[in-house]
Amino acid sequence: MVRVTRLDRVEQTTRFTEPPLTPRTAVIWSVLAAELDRRAGDQLTVLDVGGGTGGFAVPLAQAGHRVTVVDASPDALAALTRRAAEAGVADRVRAVQGDGDALAGLVEPAGVDLVLCHSVLEVVDDPAPVATALAAALRPAGAASVLVAGRAAAVLTRAMNGHLDVAATLAAAPDGSAGARDTLRRRFDADSATALLAAAGLTVEEIHGVRVLADLLPAAVADGQPAALVELERALAARSPYRDLAAQLHLFARRPA
Ligand SMILES: C[S@@+](CC[C@H](N)C(=O)[O-])C[C@H]1O[C@@H](n2cnc3c(N)ncnc32)[C@H](O)[C@@H]1O
Repeated sequence: MVRVTRLDRVEQTTRFTEPPLTPRTAVIWSVLAAELDRRAGDQLTVLDVGGGTGGFAVPLAQAGHRVTVVDASPDALAALTRRAAEAGVADRVRAVQGDGDALAGLVEPAGVDLVLCHSVLEVVDDPAPVATALAAALRPAGAASVLVAGRAAAVLTRAMNGHLDVAATLAAAPDGSAGARDTLRRRFDADSATALLAAAGLTVEEIHGVRVLADLLPAAVADGQPAALVELERALAARSPYRDLAAQLHLFARRPA
């Protein structure tokens, strides 16, 4: 079982400096930065489930926090370890190979200040026990950053690409999946994702849409005006109806104190 411990040294004493922002990450970093600023001066213990190559883990470690990444892929973890070493934070990043479906047996309970679970709940066998394990890993008042695939965007993009049958299946299927050939086992809307986390004992505080526009624009526009796109994504992320049409939904939740 992974034991996630506090270090004595505290390095984030000033405002969190966001890493370079992209349309895929800007909204999430905005939300995380608010939490990190709220805890400025504390060295947080962070658990990133399905953290992959460390796109979030390494910047969090660079800000002084101690991050454990649990991921099923040895290749991703090898890349994470290299990236952490190159960034000079190898001592604050721990890579653990493991299946998110077995998270409850991998992580000691109530030892984490911030848990990340980005783009994982849509691929695991059963999201409910994973969500329960995320909540159990958190200390009271600890925060969860959860990113899930949005159903509405998938329906619209399939239809716009002419796959009306797939769009109809996605819209009607209880799990928001198009079946055996779909790369994802399920997709969410704000209500279903909120219900999943609430059933696990987490209180959802914020929901944002991630990639409201990014996947819809011609590459020439997205690549040609990256800063404007980031700003527009941030401006639309919390607003109805844009939020609910985003490719992904980001939920920021908290374990009750
Ligand atoms: C789409 S990537 C997302 C990586 C990272 N969370 C991010 O947002 O940049 C999904 C990651 O989840 C990992 N993964 C997929 N299924 C998993 C499972 N059942 N348990 C643990 N990790 C899993 C993959 O190896 C991959 O690194």
